[in-house]
Amino acid sequence: MNQSRTVKGGGSLQGIVKVPGDKSISHRALILGSISEGETTISGFLHSEDPLSTADCLRKLGVKITEIIEGETFQVIGRGLEGYEEPKEILNCGNSGTTMRLIMGILAGQKGKNFILTGDQSLSERPMGRVCKPLRLMGGKLFGREGGNKAPLSIAGESLKGCVIGTPVASAQVKSAILLAGLTATSATSVIEPASSRDHTERMLKAFGANIEIRGELGRNVVINPGRSLNGQEVLIPGDISSASFWMIAASIIPNSKITIQNVGLNPTRIGILKVMDLMGCNYKIDHKNTIAGEMIGTVHVSTANNLQPFVIKGDILPKLIDEIPILTVAACFCEGISQIKDASELRVKETDRLKVMARQLSKFGAKIEEKEDGLVINGNSRFIGADVDSETDHRVAMSLAVASLLAKGSSTIFRADAANVSYPGFWDDLKSLL
Ligand code: S3P
Repeated sequence: MNQSRTVKGGGSLQGIVKVPGDKSISHRALILGSISEGETTISGFLHSEDPLSTADCLRKLGVKITEIIEGETFQVIGRGLEGYEEPKEILNCGNSGTTMRLIMGILAGQKGKNFILTGDQSLSERPMGRVCKPLRLMGGKLFGREGGNKAPLSIAGESLKGCVIGTPVASAQVKSAILLAGLTATSATSVIEPASSRDHTERMLKAFGANIEIRGELGRNVVINPGRSLNGQEVLIPGDISSASFWMIAASIIPNSKITIQNVGLNPTRIGILKVMDLMGCNYKIDHKNTIAGEMIGTVHVSTANNLQPFVIKGDILPKLIDEIPILTVAACFCEGISQIKDASELRVKETDRLKVMARQLSKFGAKIEEKEDGLVINGNSRFIGADVDSETDHRVAMSLAVASLLAKGSSTIFRADAANVSYPGFWDDLKSLL
């Protein structure tokens, strides 16, 4: 990863983009397809590095997946809930936390089979104890560096028992790993989250025929009852609101801009960014609302707004915009006053420490950002000057810095800009088409 991009400031953004498939749903379609009976047909899949890491791991587990060609429909031939083969090779999850954590949940219950999981330098430093610990409570045998907190990990598949598990962090990856493990447990498994995280796994498990119950305040308690097999489905994947967010913020701030973003997933557990755009006073409207495969989608039209207001992000909204914090940090620099991001220490264990990296990189443009233990205090009314910046290998940082560069006077160079390939390989082409 060493490709840099030069972006000229000034200009405006105009046009229509269709954002690529949702990353979270793409992983889940492959994974649920792989443990179903029969065939799953997937359309709208995100053809980017992270979901392709999931496909690669599943193939090593003996799952037949037809050739995945960008923009084309393909099939996954399921092996049933406990049908993975013991792989001859190490499963490499690349940069993808979702791949590693969700697959851990399934592998833990593959009795009598052994697996080794690894990832790139970033993933090998991310916390896996948050998945190992609850799976061990279910009887799972998982090992790894630092007592099982870091990859490489090894898993000896076991027969699992149902449990009631309270997770200390609202993480859809942790919740999903437990639910997937619960599919083969001997009794019901209940997950209780401190705040509700994205619910794509629950929606898709229901669609594939699992016996799943959503209970409690705001659906924070999810119960999976084992004993039913999953049946292959047709899955149509909506576009990723996390990828759309770069255009939504760019069009709001860059003068004389107007962008229509088609195929945007609008799952209620993902639309925190729209709430923040309301607080900022952004100019947007949503039409062509529809539901596909249990997920809401729509077309989002955004145009430049003046006098953007500062905002405070804290508490239960965090999981609903967790991946949008980098681009919202850029947005805050152009609001009329001081914005605050609180309760966001989870950002420190993403692909990079996104609080530190965003503060460090945006300060090169002249941004005034104070880093706190669990968030950021961001001064508005910035005037960015073109700079040499670095994604530090993080895809969402790369794309946020591209938008920041458009807002700067003069040219900027973004090092390791190809990090965007992790979730949005067409990002730079889409940017060109909007300029
Ligand atoms: C994801 C959940 C979130 C998110 C990540 C994708 C998922 O992570 O940041 O990009 O697909 O479940 P956490 O579960 O760690 O919050």
